[in-house]
Amino acid sequence: MYKLTELDAWISLRALALENKQDKIIDYFNADSQRFHKMTKKVAGVFVDYSKNKVDDRVLSELFKLARESKLNEKIAKMYAGDILNTSEGRPVLHTALRNRSNTPVVVKGENIMPRINAALDHLQQFTQSVRSAKWLGCTGKPIRNIVNIGIGGSDLGPNMVCAALADYQQANLELFFLSNVDSSHIQQTLAELNPYETLFIISSKTFSTQETILNANSAKKWFLANANVEPVDIAKHFVAVSTNRTAVVEFGINEANIFDFWDWVGGRYSLWSSIGLPIALSIGFDKFVELLEGAHEIDRHFYAADYEDNLPVILAVIGIWNINFLKAKTQAVIPYDQGLQKLPTYLQQLDMESNGKSVDEQGNPVDYDTGPIVWGQTGSHSQHAFFQLLHQGKSYVPIDFIASISQDKATPEHNEAMLTNMLAQAEAFMLGSHAGAQRPHECCPGNKPSNVFLIDEISPKNLGALIAVFEHKVFVQGVIWGINSFDQWGVQLGKELASKMIENPKSIHDSSTTGLLKILRDK
Ligand code: F6P
Repeated sequence: MYKLTELDAWISLRALALENKQDKIIDYFNADSQRFHKMTKKVAGVFVDYSKNKVDDRVLSELFKLARESKLNEKIAKMYAGDILNTSEGRPVLHTALRNRSNTPVVVKGENIMPRINAALDHLQQFTQSVRSAKWLGCTGKPIRNIVNIGIGGSDLGPNMVCAALADYQQANLELFFLSNVDSSHIQQTLAELNPYETLFIISSKTFSTQETILNANSAKKWFLANANVEPVDIAKHFVAVSTNRTAVVEFGINEANIFDFWDWVGGRYSLWSSIGLPIALSIGFDKFVELLEGAHEIDRHFYAADYEDNLPVILAVIGIWNINFLKAKTQAVIPYDQGLQKLPTYLQQLDMESNGKSVDEQGNPVDYDTGPIVWGQTGSHSQHAFFQLLHQGKSYVPIDFIASISQDKATPEHNEAMLTNMLAQAEAFMLGSHAGAQRPHECCPGNKPSNVFLIDEISPKNLGALIAVFEHKVFVQGVIWGINSFDQWGVQLGKELASKMIENPKSIHDSSTTGLLKILRDK
């Protein structure tokens, strides 16, 4: 076993960070007229310009060496082959198999799992076609108009983000709702808009035990059954589930035929490609859902085969490592200049922070280097008028991912032009800064702040699938280099356990602050 901070590449990178401390990104451009061409890459409809980072050729080459010394290739091969990468839970990690459109066998414990994946897709296809074509009717014979996904975390964020991004592809007579928060106002507001006879609830929960989801599901069931003309037997026509826990679903009252399968080798935050994608398939149709899988599959093949120097997820990951571990960035901003991608920052928060927010390595030893950054963000251009001030002149060093689509609404070219030029101007401003002179220090922007610019041809299912897969693999590569398990999430357990302890045992003993606060809640 090696120690990351003792690898040759790590030691060289530490020296380079000191040596290059005063370097200006713009000087790298001045020194190399080909920099933009060398440091841009397009794969599967996703174009990325990573030239505005504080990296020169030597840094990049040591970063790729670091990936090699971290045995990245071995880990990639193991992930695709279904080896147990999630060691603390003893599970393989196979979201790549879910979108394996080549259908090559993937063998887990002696079984080729592709037939199971294909059968789950067939179920999705048959069901979505029947709802979308109004063959599936509610208990009073009305077609389904409203689809409510009840789920949280990975059982909400992925489908929610994708449905918003692909709203232009949504079937006109269907409306999608995502109910995730346990706050009663969320369910009240959602239900207030619905006609029960035209509503389909999807209870999405891998475990079917997540408190918020089960509470919301039970309240939705109660609301449904409280309506005239509804019998318990009608639940079968209005409630379906996506879960690995068939027993709990059946106990809830859902017809076994209406359970959509997925498996414990799919992590929640990597699950939108599985049956958890049911709301997506209902919204945009099964064929377009398959295009989403195809886009991701194209990136999977690229990630598996391309040399690191040409490998988009690897490039983005190692530049992230440089920013975090050597230039000491603590956070990563994601700023989509596209209203349709408004939920992308939140989605990426779970993907990145639940995966790489760890302080011990795979063997359980504390690590003495930084790991996953705080990921945050908001759509442009209004973020320019809110928090960009701090990014330009504050003390924090915040790398930014700018993301936009090139093909926008043809009827509003002036809006498109304003949107995209604002983004490019910001990326330039962060790099160049401005120097108004010693008399006017408050006007100076120091600049030299790094960013990547993602330009997607258009936000189509295929391109969106590719974009998401790029981020998934970027997060994976960083986890491999840091030597951590990116596929468990033990950190979220403690709070869940304490919350159930408070509910189940009102007399449970707590610290005096928590006891005092509980008393205020209970005495109200
Ligand atoms: O609280 C974290 C988490 O376990 C996520 O990893 C997961 O996506 C989410 O809860 C929802 O879990 P489930 O699908 O089992 O309801």
